[in-house]
Amino acid sequence: MTMSEFGSSRGMGRASEMMWKFWYPALRTEQVRRNKLVRAMLLDVPLVLGRDTTGKPFALRDVCPHRAFPLSFGQFDGANVECAYHGWKFNAHTGQCNAIPSLTEGSKLKCERIYAGSFPCEERDGYVWAYMTNPEGRGLDELPSPVPELPKFGGKFETAQLHAELPCGVDQAIIGLMDPAHGPFVHQAWWWRSRHSIREKEKQFEPIPNGFRMSAHAPSANSAPYKVLKLLTGEPATTTIDFVLPNQRFEQIRAGKYWLSSRTTVTPIRPDRCRLDFYAAWNILPWFPVVSFIVNVFGPRFIRQDTEVIEKQAMGLKYEDRMMLIDDADRQARWYFELKSAYAEAQRTATPMKHPVNGLVTLRWRS
Ligand code: FES
Ligand SMILES: [Fe+2]
Repeated sequence: MTMSEFGSSRGMGRASEMMWKFWYPALRTEQVRRNKLVRAMLLDVPLVLGRDTTGKPFALRDVCPHRAFPLSFGQFDGANVECAYHGWKFNAHTGQCNAIPSLTEGSKLKCERIYAGSFPCEERDGYVWAYMTNPEGRGLDELPSPVPELPKFGGKFETAQLHAELPCGVDQAIIGLMDPAHGPFVHQAWWWRSRHSIREKEKQFEPIPNGFRMSAHAPSANSAPYKVLKLLTGEPATTTIDFVLPNQRFEQIRAGKYWLSSRTTVTPIRPDRCRLDFYAAWNILPWFPVVSFIVNVFGPRFIRQDTEVIEKQAMGLKYEDRMMLIDDADRQARWYFELKSAYAEAQRTATPMKHPVNGLVTLRWRS
């Protein structure tokens, strides 16, 4: 048996869990409206978001550089955010200050040298994303590459979005998401599976940039929705699951010309709180809303079960957050931590990342 312990200081959630210089979904598209300011919290950074007159979203640090008043209490005219305390004005996209009402004529102070923290902001796949440069929202030397898009395999598709807040640090939530062994105990249901349906699984994994992939395989025989899918499409389905730093899980199910593609992200809000966001797109029988039904009925039920388990786990984590990661069932969790530290090391030393997964690896567990 291989076993390893990951020790850490007590108290769940450490600032070191946060990974900077990545895109994170800040709010859902419909939460950010034109000419309106709305708050969000990402990686323990308060943000104020909005859309300019053309609809382009922006994200500023919700802290006025003058005396820390939250900018979200201020006015927004479609281009500039005006702080409600002393009326300083900031360009919504760049954070640059362009007016300080208290200045007298002939003042030497150059207000254009003052900036509110700001974060690159983009809209994609149903979310407004912010690129979290650093906690201050400063010193962005180059524009980041765009938000990775959810793979889609044809022009016409349906979509769905689900979300939940989880009372734990991002690491616990992510390893909870990739953990195959809790299924038969937490996600029991007559139409899905019972603990008696446990059987041996064997899956192949391979390294991908900043992550790892469960190679294309036939979905588990003991999972009902996949059986439904096969019945409907008449084609055998294959599924591929990727995990990519910092927080993204992609799953693709393909059956002939049919496909279902989803992304789940777990985004840190505060050190002890995170949010799960699920976005799916599919082209399976759009005239017969079976996938929509599966996603919108079974999806929330799954998420509720996971949320409940995490709420209970938090009770124990208050006293002990060391963990035992055992054998292949917990191998993905170990890879996650190893990826994180390999990534941090590569950043620190400015060298290529040493990937913890060496070529094809077969993992075996019972679930
Ligand atoms: S605190 Fe914002 S203008 Fe003074
Ligand atoms: Fe789960």
